[in-house]
Amino acid sequence: MPGPEDRHSLFAITAPGLEPLAQAELRALGIDAVVEPGGVAWTGGLDDLYAANLHLRTASRVTVLAAGFRARTFFELERHARKVPWERWIPRGGAVRLRVTSKKSKLYHEGAIAQRVLEAIEHRVGPLAGSGVVDDEEGGEDAGDAQLFIVRFVRDACTIRADASGALLHLRGYRQALARAPLRETLAAAMLLGSGWKGESPLLDPMCGSGTIPIEAALIARHIAPGLANPEREPRRYAFAAWPEFDAARWSAIVARARGEIRPAAGIRILGSDRDEGAIEAATANAARAGVSEDVDLSVRAVSAIDPPPGPGSVVINPPYGVRVGERDPLRNLYAALGRTLRARCPGWTLALLSPDRGLEGQVGIPLDEALRTSNGGIPVRLVAGRVPGEPTGDA
Ligand SMILES: C[S@@+](CC[C@H](N)C(=O)[O-])C[C@H]1O[C@@H](n2cnc3c(N)ncnc32)[C@H](O)[C@@H]1O
Repeated sequence: MPGPEDRHSLFAITAPGLEPLAQAELRALGIDAVVEPGGVAWTGGLDDLYAANLHLRTASRVTVLAAGFRARTFFELERHARKVPWERWIPRGGAVRLRVTSKKSKLYHEGAIAQRVLEAIEHRVGPLAGSGVVDDEEGGEDAGDAQLFIVRFVRDACTIRADASGALLHLRGYRQALARAPLRETLAAAMLLGSGWKGESPLLDPMCGSGTIPIEAALIARHIAPGLANPEREPRRYAFAAWPEFDAARWSAIVARARGEIRPAAGIRILGSDRDEGAIEAATANAARAGVSEDVDLSVRAVSAIDPPPGPGSVVINPPYGVRVGERDPLRNLYAALGRTLRARCPGWTLALLSPDRGLEGQVGIPLDEALRTSNGGIPVRLVAGRVPGEPTGDA
């Protein structure tokens, strides 16, 4: 029978490009992980598994290795799959969903692999309440309570990972009101952490939409774990809480420690604005749901009307992209106007911008270097950052 001190092979999945940020976040939790394509890997116990789920701001999921073996025939796959201790992750009468990929392997038919794995699971744990196969790269945003297993074949080597998170970790729970083109919470956190902002100087997002960047900034500044982003500071739901070996006492201790780390106030100004009134209504409702209303200052205004607090601080922005024909010229003007306003009102501040292309970012007229490359809603983007020229005008 597995014990609570068992070591597990753990892997936190991230969007491409965010791996080093997740690694740095784990290091802050006292965990040494190595960067691999698509995530970070380390060996740890249940404490690590629980803490990573509760605290990681930039990861999409945390998974635990259930099995690793080689199989070139369905017979071999069945033989190994029947030996996997599925009962550790599937409660009696539970439901399961599988995400199967196969590359450069004899067994390449993903549907047939899924069918054999499902048969092996039922052979071992008895009838399931439900089962399904998901195509989505990330295993589906939120498929209710069905336990997700990620089955990967690469050159005949099969790894099976049990998802410990459940709904994707960017679904913190606070963002129910959406404005146009909202940013994933994980990417907003990555922009803040990747820009070098440490939660200790003023922060301004003058195109804040539904408020994701200022809300994530408030969570960082107050040391609120993303899994506690609600007024009650109750943890969101995680898949591991339904596992038969779930250790409620350990989990409660980790949650209690995280609650103890929360600062009563941000101690810095965090501002978000947008010219769209509906966006600011959404941002205000989202900030309340995250339990950070007191920490963010949200207002309806155009970029040209921003009124930054004494700085220097950081301006972190996810401007409109405009992928449709006919949107280029107005967007070029918008980026140029943004640059003019920042040079006039925020000299000496740091600017970090999620950029869809170099042409538009060049319009800003402020030297910007690439801090990271990732994708947003399938569009390749770069986080670029630099210093707004000029001498700062006040003390933060
Ligand atoms: C890509 S969205 C930002 C999404 C936001 N990060 C979120 O998570 O919801 C860009 C935002 O810029 C705003 N915007 C566009 N032009 C603006 C301007 N001149 N002044 C202020 N806001 C503007 C839009 O209303 C929109 O909400």
